[in-house]
Amino acid sequence: MSNLQWFIKYRPKSLAEVENQEEAKEELKSWMESWIQGKPKYKAVLLNGPPGVGKTTIAEALARDYNMELLEMNASDSRRLNDIREIAERASTSSSLFGRGGRLILLDEVDGINSRQDAGAIPGILDVIERSKSPIILTANNAWDPSLRELRTAVRLIDLHRLGKIPLKKILERICKAEKVICDPKGIGAIADLSEGDGRYAINMLQSIAEVYRKVTEDLVKDLVRKKDRTLDPFETLRGIFWAKYFWQARSASTTSEVDYELLMRWLSENVPVQFDNAEDVFRGFDALSRASIFLKRSKLGDWDLLSYVFDLMGPGVAFSESSKSSGQWKAKWRKYQFPTYVQQMSKSKDSRDALKIASEKIAKATHCSSDKAITDYVPFMKFMKVEGFSAEEMTVMGSLEVQGNQGDEKGERGKETRTTRSRRTRKRT
Ligand SMILES: Nc1ncnc2c1ncn2[C@@H]1O[C@H](COP(=O)(O)OP(=O)(O)O)[C@@H](O)[C@H]1O
Ligand SMILES: [Mg+2]
Repeated sequence: MSNLQWFIKYRPKSLAEVENQEEAKEELKSWMESWIQGKPKYKAVLLNGPPGVGKTTIAEALARDYNMELLEMNASDSRRLNDIREIAERASTSSSLFGRGGRLILLDEVDGINSRQDAGAIPGILDVIERSKSPIILTANNAWDPSLRELRTAVRLIDLHRLGKIPLKKILERICKAEKVICDPKGIGAIADLSEGDGRYAINMLQSIAEVYRKVTEDLVKDLVRKKDRTLDPFETLRGIFWAKYFWQARSASTTSEVDYELLMRWLSENVPVQFDNAEDVFRGFDALSRASIFLKRSKLGDWDLLSYVFDLMGPGVAFSESSKSSGQWKAKWRKYQFPTYVQQMSKSKDSRDALKIASEKIAKATHCSSDKAITDYVPFMKFMKVEGFSAEEMTVMGSLEVQGNQGDEKGERGKETRTTRSRRTRKRT
């Protein structure tokens, strides 16, 4: 496995090294100057552009060029927002803003926020922007996502371009030279064509070919690189990983999945024993996943570059846990993959939560009480009564209330009434 992903190793250190984004660079510099003069044009900018065009890179390079401390947060990790808020509000005069102690705040990938799961995130960010005494950069793959409407009005939008063929070739050639890879201009050109303007994708393809062959030719590229395409569904992702013959195949399956990395971890845990027959292979598969989980935890603490190892371990790490793969006679085995039990349980418990809700509303209506009260005062006794008007499922759920009564309320904070139900349950058990 590679020591360091090349796209990280060769990430531009300064704005001057960033290719193809001249207008954005100029605008950002003049924005910074306005902060230095103590009259910021705007508090926050939103860098908008598809994956791999340099959004994160530019924010990091800007901080380095202006000798500022970069406070980085992936926007989907909103728990960190409170820390950021505190730092952002701390006053800093223009003399301490820049040079040592100066701070630039990066809220990366704001379109990754799930506004339904995390309703407070966007208002929280708006609040941070309003009160911040430091410049803030936000990034998004698609700033026109409807969930970002409010945010758009609070920031200055700066568009980044997809990388053209010429800048992509320049980036790739530079890396080939540094890594002493023999590079055929046509091979590099073919990678650039297939990457559709995504620098990260191009560099990853280059690395996966060069690490095996030490050279990049047009033929190798045509044989090995899949056209950058739609994302893989969970079953395709599993096949892509388990059936991979090469490192890069497994890696590209793990990174181009429509399943996010946390869910992918569950899919893999469920199916490692389904795919592998040999107990030692299963052991190695779980070992790779457990290490992926450690990296994931650490990257969520703020070191997002580590995410790349999570994909290495979930893709190639799992794929090459199968020892017979190196034998030459290995053949991919077709298996019927299973949904993660977690997903099954969630959907099952959702069904019963829905059934309980419907049943309790029926009771509430008939007895003129609230549906909460129906759950605590009537539902537990329904199994002793003969009543009509309930479906079989509703009856089953009501019959098992001692479990369901508490689950019906997701936060488990229904107050006194719930507590009595709970103590009733414990008494019965003992
Ligand atoms: N404009 C660019 N100039 C030079 N390298 C780039 C550029 N854009 C992307 N790259 C390369 O691709 C990698 C991914 O870029 P990144 O900034 O993380 O993209 P994103 O826009 O998804 O945040 C970088 O580490 C860098 O190696
Ligand atoms: Mg990024």
